[in-house]
Amino acid sequence: MNHPVALITGAARRIGAEIARTLHHQGYRVLIHFNHSETEAQALIAELNHQEHDSARYLQADLNNTSEVHMLAQEAITQWGRLDILVNNASAFFPTPLEQSDEQQWDALINSNLKAPYFLSAALADELKRRNGSIINIIDIHAQRALPGYPIYSIAKAGLQMMTLSLAKELAPGVKVNGVSPGPILWPEQAAAIDEVEQQVIVDKTLLKRTGQPQDIASAVLFLAQQNFITGQILAVDGGKSLFSH
Ligand SMILES: NC(=O)c1ccc[n+]([C@@H]2O[C@H](COP(=O)([O-])OP(=O)(O)OC[C@H]3O[C@@H](n4cnc5c(N)ncnc54)[C@H](OP(=O)(O)O)[C@@H]3O)[C@@H](O)[C@H]2O)c1
Repeated sequence: MNHPVALITGAARRIGAEIARTLHHQGYRVLIHFNHSETEAQALIAELNHQEHDSARYLQADLNNTSEVHMLAQEAITQWGRLDILVNNASAFFPTPLEQSDEQQWDALINSNLKAPYFLSAALADELKRRNGSIINIIDIHAQRALPGYPIYSIAKAGLQMMTLSLAKELAPGVKVNGVSPGPILWPEQAAAIDEVEQQVIVDKTLLKRTGQPQDIASAVLFLAQQNFITGQILAVDGGKSLFSH
């Protein structure tokens, strides 16, 4: 059995876990990357391996640390001896009001959302070329229109958007590079959590008047993974929020 292999970063929980389940359901073997969520990662690979023996494994790495990013790339290839798809999903997300922001926040947001996806893509480029593979970056509609109060996150995602276009050129013709830009799907947690009133304001700014589901993002990732003639494209999955004009 030599099924294709996908590495999904930040995949122990939430949207990343749904992407992993969806690719797995389509016959991919999945490498679940996590940083702190080991319990959730363990539970997810148990669930997936129960469906298909040895079809899911997990790998830990702090994407703030470039040497761990390089180790993750090496370990990903050696697990099953091939890698076909990289999904850059992991992301730190918290507000950084301009006057109170510091270098540590800059590093945490830029490293997880931009620097790690770049060096992971670079380290995996040869293997992905060999497999005629794909990179799919999970961006954000706020890469185009800055999210107020979140300047560093917005800058990082804007960089990831340009990285998608740039690497589509750099890695052609061997590797397709595309992006999915979510609108509101799952409400943020911890320092970025918002109350129900703020949530409703955001929902009202979608054309479809609701949030999306993790499956909506996962379906878009699967669609892009299955295409043979699409590269350098970014698909907004946002219920029309990026079109909303007032
Ligand atoms: N949720 C939404 O509605 C929404 C909207 C727009 C865009 N997006 C984008 O969609 C993607 C998934 O969203 P989400 O809300 O599911 O993400 P999330 O829960 O906020 O974060 C996903 C994972 O990223 C990992 N991560 C963060 N910093 C890391 C680091 N330094 N090293 C390694 N891993 C790190 C965490 O892994 P551990 O838990 O293992 O530490 C976390 O579970 C993200 O790229 C996000 O920007 C989401």
